Amino acid sequence: MDLRGRTALITGSAVRVGRQICLELAERGANIVINYRTSAQAASELVAEIKRLGPDALAIQGDVSRSADVARIAEESTRRFGQIDVLVNNASIYPRTPFAQLTEAQWDESIAVNLKGPFLCCQTFGSRMAEGDGGVIVNISDWAVFRPYADYLPYLTAKGGIITLTKALARELAPKVRVNVIVPGPIQPPGDLTDAERQEAAAGTLVGHWGNPGDIAKAVAFLVEGSDFITGAVLSVDGGRLIA
Ligand SMILES: NC(=O)c1ccc[n+]([C@@H]2O[C@H](COP(=O)([O-])OP(=O)(O)OC[C@H]3O[C@@H](n4cnc5c(N)ncnc54)[C@H](OP(=O)(O)O)[C@@H]3O)[C@@H](O)[C@H]2O)c1
Repeated sequence: MDLRGRTALITGSAVRVGRQICLELAERGANIVINYRTSAQAASELVAEIKRLGPDALAIQGDVSRSADVARIAEESTRRFGQIDVLVNNASIYPRTPFAQLTEAQWDESIAVNLKGPFLCCQTFGSRMAEGDGGVIVNISDWAVFRPYADYLPYLTAKGGIITLTKALARELAPKVRVNVIVPGPIQPPGDLTDAERQEAAAGTLVGHWGNPGDIAKAVAFLVEGSDFITGAVLSVDGGRLIA
């Protein structure tokens, strides 16, 4: 799919990796719908930055785990742009949840944001794509679902579910909608990571360093524009972390 004149919605995209995906797709000519939950100021600055690049942009607040919010995001974005051609399910929470103290509420929240949210967005936007002119969905998982580390059980379970969600939806939405998943390695550390933990993560890759948000953004662009023969695929962007 040529992104020029198309519209892409990226969830949780006012800051960090999502922001870079917005800029990459905008540079390739797509109008952008930024979804944010709390980062209102960053979202409005990103709208202005994208408009300076040329394409149009719209920021919509909403919690992807709430079906009413997803329906409103669909209504507002469709009113402005017509069909959404590309959906990137990037929004995520990454709370540390040691197993010994893990609560039902923590489990429910991670599954709601990290798995149900992408499902609701795929259901809403994917159905419209399938009934309309087709489209592309890119989900975002995590390398650690294949080699889980401690203290993140609900997050890892949800991100593991994204792999199956992707393959099952690729089948459900074929042939007009392609659905793929990116599996990032260490890309951008969360704020609470210590220097020692950052170095350990870098040393755990084959390339010996962290990636950056541009690595994920370029992979998204490739899955949208690079080939229309890729669907149900799992693309690692992890510096070899999975096989190191
Ligand atoms: N960073 C890495 O190294 C890495 C590694 C492996 C996988 N990943 C995956 O790559 C993606 C991007 O990573 P990241 O580190 O940039 O993510 P992040 O900073 O943890 O989260 C991205 C955004 O998600 C939004 N969000 C959280 N809950 C939401 C909800 N209920 N509804 C809508 N938006 C919500 C937040 O928006 P607000 O700021 O507006 O509240 C946040 O800015 C994520 O899916 C992550 O799991 C990242």
